[in-house]
Amino acid sequence: MTGGGRFFRIGGFSGISRRMTAAPDAKPLKGLFISTYGCQMNVYDSERIRDVLKPLGYAPVDAPEGADLVVINTCHIREKATEKVYSELGKLKQMKLASGGRMTIAVAGCVAQAEGAEIIRRQPAVDLVLGPQAYHKLPEMIARASRAVGDRLETGFDTVEKFDALPKTRDPDGPTAFVSVQEGCDKFCTFCVVPYTRGAEMSRSVDDIVSEVRDLAAKGVRDVTLLGQNVNAFHGAPPRIEGGADWTLGRLVRYIAKIGGIDRIRYTTSHPRDMDDDLIAAHGDTPAMMPFLHLPVQAGSDRILKAMNRGHSADQYRDIIARVRAARPDIAIATDFIVGFPGESDADFEATMQLARDIDYAIAYSFKYSARPGTPATEMHGHVSEAVKDERLQALQALLRDQQTAFNRSQVGKTLPVLVTGRGRIPGQMHGRSPYLQSVHFEAPDTLVNSIVDVKIVSATMSSLTGEPLRVCETAQ
Ligand code: SAH
Ligand code: SF4
Ligand code: F3S
Repeated sequence: MTGGGRFFRIGGFSGISRRMTAAPDAKPLKGLFISTYGCQMNVYDSERIRDVLKPLGYAPVDAPEGADLVVINTCHIREKATEKVYSELGKLKQMKLASGGRMTIAVAGCVAQAEGAEIIRRQPAVDLVLGPQAYHKLPEMIARASRAVGDRLETGFDTVEKFDALPKTRDPDGPTAFVSVQEGCDKFCTFCVVPYTRGAEMSRSVDDIVSEVRDLAAKGVRDVTLLGQNVNAFHGAPPRIEGGADWTLGRLVRYIAKIGGIDRIRYTTSHPRDMDDDLIAAHGDTPAMMPFLHLPVQAGSDRILKAMNRGHSADQYRDIIARVRAARPDIAIATDFIVGFPGESDADFEATMQLARDIDYAIAYSFKYSARPGTPATEMHGHVSEAVKDERLQALQALLRDQQTAFNRSQVGKTLPVLVTGRGRIPGQMHGRSPYLQSVHFEAPDTLVNSIVDVKIVSATMSSLTGEPLRVCETAQ
């Protein structure tokens, strides 16, 4: 799988089109268009930005043309991601001129955090710049409507204040939802901007998370993905009525599994150093825990892992995967790789290929190393040429594509419980999600949306499965 899949480029929300509709007597709605780049955390944040703006009369529209407010929720992880922001801003500037200046343009997310006022200097059509921990201040920033650059910028790091200020109810799109439980990162991998753009590691309290999950469950959500930049470093305050020490992710997962209506739990993205015994055991003893684990490894050479400051060896990673597979033998393992990190030799790259062969991934995302301003790896010796990075990426992706296709084909003939998420592209066809996070298509009536249906898998490609529905299941698995 190429790098694109793990990272989102969504206009509006979760690809679902919405139209502005106002009750006859309601005050006129203002059009809001949000464009989301980057990881699942940004998808979650965009949804929360929509929630924050709803009381001000903003309603999502399908296109930026004619919108009153356009928010670009940005990603800084690789150079290309950042460049896209400025090309999109150029197009928005034209639309703003065509609207007679009525359109407000806000830049949110990780580029906003990293570049701050520089964004307004480079593209003066931008009205507001707000970092990932400041989007709850958007209403107040819009109200200020001042032209002073200082007033148009919010890049504080108060994550606790943000979660306290967010609306307590959500408006989910269908039976699946993301829930942020942890933000920020203290790991400081030498290639990565996240510790600088998202700030220090912080966990939400269990009570706060549980009330959000209960609200989602009451609105029909059955499959939740707990999010964090380092989600398994979670150490949230325990429920107020229980007290005691902070909870780990394993404990949180077991607790959420008891919430009525929640059939499926996933978490992403985790770090190998934080895969503790209890979390591994939960994969085996908690039925709602889906058999899918995304555990980024980045490289297979110990020398490169050390230079990356990952804090583990390739064999320690192999050992973690072996323990996870012992707890849950059918688990699908996913990962991220970086090729062409400074100093990576042919032998180092071969160690990455060997690790991929040994683990045999269900899905994996691979990226060419991109030097990011302010990160230690930028200063390292032995930067690898683009040509060599290209060659290595192609070799690795060919292997990963074969593994992904083989994993999907191994499901043919099996019956999987599929959570029906919506209509497929072909009339009469429905679309859903397998426990292993595969896309499944099958013919069925659309009354089955939100149900979990047993589907017999009849064919598979690298990207999806096709099957025949057998029956609606009572439980997740
Ligand atoms: N905390 C998460 C998110 C990190 S960003 C994690 O550790 O997985 C997601 C992926 O982007 C990383 O796993 C890594 O593979 C990739 N990435 C991060 N910085 C990069 C860089 N400078 N160049 C290329 N890929 C990068
Ligand atoms: Fe970045 Fe490493 Fe933190 Fe992941 S663990 S966000 S790769 S610094
Ligand atoms: Fe990108 Fe920020 Fe996520 S840099 S990957 S949007 S944490």
